[in-house]
Order: sequence, then structure tokens, then C-alpha cells
Amino acid sequence: MGKVVLAYSGGLDTSVAIKWLNEKYGYDVVTLTLNVGQNEDLKLIEEKAYKIGAIKHYSIDALEEFVNEYINNAIKANALYQGKYPLSSALSRPLIAKYLVMIAELENAEAVAHGCTGKGNDQVRFETTIKSLNPKLKIIAPVREWNLTRNEEIEYAKNKGIPVSATKSKPYSIDQNIWGRSIEGGVLEDPYFEPPEDAFEWTKPLSEAPDNPAIIEIGFINGIPFELNGEEMKEVELIKFLNQYGGMHGVGRIDHMEDRVVGIKSREVYECPAATILIEAHKDLEKFVLTKHENEVKEYLDSLWTKLAYYGLWEDPLRKDIQAFIDSTQIPRVTGKVKVKIFKGNLRVIGRKSDYALYDVKLSTYGSESLFNQKDSEGFINIFSLQTVLAKKVEKLNARREEHKKV
Ligand code: ARG
Repeated sequence: MGKVVLAYSGGLDTSVAIKWLNEKYGYDVVTLTLNVGQNEDLKLIEEKAYKIGAIKHYSIDALEEFVNEYINNAIKANALYQGKYPLSSALSRPLIAKYLVMIAELENAEAVAHGCTGKGNDQVRFETTIKSLNPKLKIIAPVREWNLTRNEEIEYAKNKGIPVSATKSKPYSIDQNIWGRSIEGGVLEDPYFEPPEDAFEWTKPLSEAPDNPAIIEIGFINGIPFELNGEEMKEVELIKFLNQYGGMHGVGRIDHMEDRVVGIKSREVYECPAATILIEAHKDLEKFVLTKHENEVKEYLDSLWTKLAYYGLWEDPLRKDIQAFIDSTQIPRVTGKVKVKIFKGNLRVIGRKSDYALYDVKLSTYGSESLFNQKDSEGFINIFSLQTVLAKKVEKLNARREEHKKV
């Protein structure tokens, strides 16, 4: 029997896939689960995999790596797809794919498998990464292939003795990790229908958020958060804290009309308190320390980086080229502190400081003691406005000519 390594979440789709890969393809199934901060009991997932028929299970704690190599790059790139989605699910896929390939090579498996449907982005992200890391591996996408409805799937699971927990009481498709929680499906498929409270787990509704605002001070070093309210903190803990604290204040709920790679428009709902706060603070600090020329180019390259990550082109040289530019802007200058006020779902930067600030109060002050020589502006404006003034003059001249012709 050949072997297949399956990315196993413990959910219904991938549980059914263990049996299906075994029966339909005759594969021995090796399962792999990564901890990316999804807050699930990895031990239970492992037990479930063995119970359904996996011959071997790998449980890998990849949380630190996810934060250091993926989330930090997203913070440095201010990554918000279409201005809104912090890429929480998207960022985890190339990491899971990397480990799938590693374990497949270790186990001498001929194939890898994932539980994505044929309609989403995740299949694209997994397979693009797998193909680029090891083009010889066969890729199987059972859910895309088997064409079962949800009910048929549940029926199949029951027949095969696979424990089923997904029922009508859990109407959403959820994917979560330390960077956010994605909620899709069910009533959310009506884009005009307000997401009901039962869709949310990490964030409080505005009516239940505290009646007083809170102020958080975030310290960044080389573009990466390392300090909270003056205290150094392990980044994993810092992110967890902001998810909890921001969520309590109703910060980080996102309702997004999203364009998928495969062209489908979909209504996506997210809860990403830490990502929302950290990206907003980081963006502000950059404006404080980088030149306007850098900020202009960075805004464009950030959005390109974000698109590449969303599209699953993590391994593409262009992503790494842009990464090099971004890193060069961060080290050492994007270092300093940002003060953020959160209140009833709202988030506002209310202060920033940095040793690398290009801001100079001696230049910008409206007080009399300014270093800025206002007389310089006169000549500057003459040159700066030159072409606009010329164009306007020519426009008027020609308008007058037209008038003359008419008379
Ligand atoms: N639309 C998001 C993305 O493509 C989230 C997908 C998450 N998957 C889920 N089963 N809810 O990154």
C-alpha cells in the first residue's frame, strides 16, 4: 500500500477523508495537524485520527514559526486584503503545506491530501505551495472530488463509525488561528443579512463592550511588536492578550465582500482584534519614521505583497523580492511606541514616539521659534506650480481664440 499524508483538522471533512483515501485509493493514511493557535485540543485530534484509521499521526507545534515567519511579515506589510482582511487563514496555508511536503518526504509517501473544496482560495494556496516545493508529489483533494452533499457526508460518516459533531447547531464554516477567526456560510450567505451574534466568539457586541475607553501602548522594534504597556512580552502572548482585550471592547469584527482568487465574490466575516490593532499601530509608526517617498512606494508594494499572500503565491520570488524591500524599511527605523485608544468597537491611534522620527517640532511648530525658513517657500512654490500655471494660461488663451472665431 502506498502512503498519503493528509492535513488533518479533526473536523468532519478531513475525518471522512481518512476513510475515503483508504477505501477509494487504497492508501495508508498518515495524518498531520499543526498548532497555529487554533485553540483546539491536539491530543483529542490525534486520538480521533487513530480511531478513524490513520496509521500514524504527526502533531507539530508551529505557533512560534507561524508568528515569526508569517504573521510578522504580514504586520510589516500592513497586510489587509482589499483594505480589510488581515489574511489570518491565508497565512497559515503555506506553512501547513510546507510541513505536508516535509512529512511526505520523511514518510516516503507518494501523495499528500487536504480537505478544501473546489470553490475557495485554500486549495489554490495549498497546491501552489506543494507543487513549488515538490512537483513530484501527487495531490489529492477528496472534498473536491467526492461530490457529496453535507448530508450525504454525514450519512457516510455515520455508516463508517466516524464521530460527527457538526450538526444544525453549528451552521458555520470556521477556520481559526492566532491571527483571526474566519466565519462563512449559513445565514451569512445573504450579504444583506446582519451577521447574527451566534457567529461571533472572540468579540463582544457593542452593547456589551465596556462603557469606558481603554488605552494600550504598543512598543515596536524593527517593525515587530515586542512590548505592551511598557512591559516586554513574548509575541505569542502579546497577540493572545490583544485578541482577548480588543475582543472584549468589540474591536476587530470585519464584514467583507471579498473577491476570491477563483473569481467568486463571497461574503466573509472575521474576528481579528489583535491583527486590527497591531496593523493600525504599525502603519502609524511607519508614517512617523519613513520618508514620504518610501511611504508612497511602500503602500503600493504592501498591497502587492498582500495580494500575493492571499493568492497563495508565498513561494514566488516576487513575494520574497518585495519582502526584501519591506525588511529594509523596517530595520532599524520602525522602532518606537504607539498609543491606541479602543472603545466600543472603535480604534484610534492617539500618540506615537520614536528615536527615528522624521517629525521635528522645531520645523512644524506654529509658534515663532521655527527652524523652517518661510521665505524659502516663495521660490519653491514658483517652481512647484510652474506647469499648472502654464497649462491654465494656455487653456484661457485658447478659450479666447474660440470666442473670437464665433464673433
Ligand atoms: N476567505 C478567507 C480566505 O480565503 C477565509 C477562508 C477560511 N475558510 C473557512 N472554512 N472559513 O482566506
